[in-house]
Amino acid sequence: MRVGIIGTGAISHKHAQAYANIGYKVTVCTDINEQAGRQFAERYGAQFLSSYEEVCRHPEVDFVDVCTFPDFRLQPLKICAETKKHIQVQKPISTSLETAREMIETARRAGIQLGVVSQHRFDDSSRCLYKAIRDGRLGKILQADAYVKWYRTPEYYSRPIKGSWAVEGGGALINQAIHQVDVLRWLVGGVKELFGYWQLAAIHKIESEDVVCALLRYENGATGVLQASTAFWPGYTERIEIHGTKGTAIISGDK
Ligand SMILES: NC(=O)c1ccc[n+]([C@@H]2O[C@H](COP(=O)([O-])OP(=O)(O)OC[C@H]3O[C@@H](n4cnc5c(N)ncnc54)[C@H](O)[C@@H]3O)[C@@H](O)[C@H]2O)c1
Repeated sequence: MRVGIIGTGAISHKHAQAYANIGYKVTVCTDINEQAGRQFAERYGAQFLSSYEEVCRHPEVDFVDVCTFPDFRLQPLKICAETKKHIQVQKPISTSLETAREMIETARRAGIQLGVVSQHRFDDSSRCLYKAIRDGRLGKILQADAYVKWYRTPEYYSRPIKGSWAVEGGGALINQAIHQVDVLRWLVGGVKELFGYWQLAAIHKIESEDVVCALLRYENGATGVLQASTAFWPGYTERIEIHGTKGTAIISGDK
């Protein structure tokens, strides 16, 4: 497969390495920071293009990989819908439910695949637990929790876009704990009711939450707790805990 990458910042390097491992070729890339884009192109043997439109229309691109911040996903998706190219976007899918739904609908109507990077579904631990739950080894699920009690430094939030509503869509919940939210929903199913508190800018100079805790009721009747933070010193390994009538399983880190 031939890939076109939009956004050549930190995470795009992981993508490029992964593509090299599986024999995919990054043919073209772009970035609004031209220097960063050109350096990336040179490093991975790709051609730098000056706009995302060109990436989405390029004849040597089978699918487009969007590694920008989450306020910029729908724009390339709309062109991919026209050119019938599949598209992958980094998490989170969007900064708003409305745009996320529009993205899903646009991809569906065009008959293209839209993927969102949720890599923890592919961890051995979560795959093993997914199968164990489906095989009934934990019995009826009573409670499913996620704890993401992390710490991020002031430097991490030094760029104004970090933790902003407009560009990142929020703080610790949508940016950090989104992986554990995704795994919980994948393992246990949808959430019917939710109640929570957050603290906006508890310790960081951001608009959004750096402390959040919530109580969940899943569609299957199980209850759960979700705690997420980027303000808890010194920062602890994230955990998912699933309690069923026949047993308990805990994923700590990726194990
Ligand atoms: N799945 C994970 O574990 C994981 C880890 C890190 C980051 N991410 C996600 O990846 C995304 C990018 O994060 P990052 O850390 O690489 O950020 P980054 O700032 O290092 O890189 C983003 C790049 O996108 C470019 N860009 C912004 N708008 C653009 C546009 N309109 N057209 C072209 N280029 C544009 C920027 O110039 C920058 O080079 C975020 O959504 C983040 O949440 C996911």
